[in-house]
Amino acid sequence: MKDKTIIGPFKQVITMADLPLEGPINDAALPVRENAGVVCVDGRIEEIKPWQELEKEKGIEKEIINEPCVLLPGFIDSHTHMCYAGSRARDYALRTAGVSYLEIAKQGGGILDTVRKTREASKEELKENLKMRVQAHLQRGVTTSEVKSGYGLNVSDELKMLRVIKEVNQEEKLDLVPTCLAAHTLPPEFSNHKEYLEYLVKELLPKIKEEALAQRIDIFVEESAFSAADANDYLEKAKSMGFDIIIHADQFSTGASSLASKIGALSAEHLEASTDKEIKLLAKHHVVANVLPGASLGLGMGFAPARKLLDEGCCVVISSDWNPGSAPMGDLLTQAAILGAYEKLSAAEIFAGLTFRAANVLKLNDRGILAKGMLADMIAFPTSDYRDILYHQGQLGPVLIWKKGVACCLP
Ligand code: NIG
Ligand code: FE
Repeated sequence: MKDKTIIGPFKQVITMADLPLEGPINDAALPVRENAGVVCVDGRIEEIKPWQELEKEKGIEKEIINEPCVLLPGFIDSHTHMCYAGSRARDYALRTAGVSYLEIAKQGGGILDTVRKTREASKEELKENLKMRVQAHLQRGVTTSEVKSGYGLNVSDELKMLRVIKEVNQEEKLDLVPTCLAAHTLPPEFSNHKEYLEYLVKELLPKIKEEALAQRIDIFVEESAFSAADANDYLEKAKSMGFDIIIHADQFSTGASSLASKIGALSAEHLEASTDKEIKLLAKHHVVANVLPGASLGLGMGFAPARKLLDEGCCVVISSDWNPGSAPMGDLLTQAAILGAYEKLSAAEIFAGLTFRAANVLKLNDRGILAKGMLADMIAFPTSDYRDILYHQGQLGPVLIWKKGVACCLP
């Protein structure tokens, strides 16, 4: 028996259908269905129709929405490091007192501090931490999230992180997409970057394949992490093993965007330091630009040039970068709204970066749009006008959230 439900009415259904994958989008192009409802069958969308027609349907279960709401596809966070143990409040206090992120890393704080705590944590502890963050994400309307490893930096602890991500994905409603970021920084056991990357290719990547723990490989290219030349060899090898390539690029200095363009990376992520040259390259090579306003807010630094990236024709995706160091906030909608205010983005461009464009960078073609056949991952905001959502800069959250057609309980 098919499980069929009619959900509505909604004042506006913002379907995000039929919009371009790359480049600017005007709000006038936003597909807004007024006074409509959604028919869901077995967790997927069957159709979106005027409520006048749907309310007459007999013999089908109806989930009636009693307050005026705007419906959007569930948000997709395509760049996070939310599997970790411990806090870096000390780093944050040092930074607000004027010490730079890279200086803190040089003093043994930064990523390596979280590596120590994550290695010490049991699998159960890590799972609990990740579950807590996954639930917070879901309550704020994120229905799919990428999660990176990268605080293990050896075979056993990287595998521990990826297994935790896999298990939490199976146990929680939110869908998680894992990425291996074992090339996050040089671990204390190694003194040579090349040797560490060779060790990963030999010892870790085959195990990840064997256990199907991740399909995506990421690397942090930066002065404090890996050079573009070392990254190139590592990524070529990962590519030949069949992995998709993602690069932490141009966060503090440029160089990695050209590598991303040359090597055929799916996306270059961060881009705060990108100049016109990098922007042109990314657009030309159709490398997705994943911008991370949460890191700018956490570090007190400028935003990635999202406006210029869009105007040059890039697919711009917006993610939280949720991590204990540079982006501890984790509130994707707030961050995207603030980025929009600074970078002059239309609501359509912001929502695109949080929905179908984010689905694209994760290679998920079953979500991010409300249309026939798509997963019924949907979020409803208590307003009659979609513009209210960004206007409140994250303070107007969703009141109803459906994951695969099933309403999630909010506390
Ligand atoms: O994306 N830039 C490198 N990695 C993370 C920060 C990780 C950390 O500081 O723990 C980022 O910002
Ligand atoms: Fe990151």
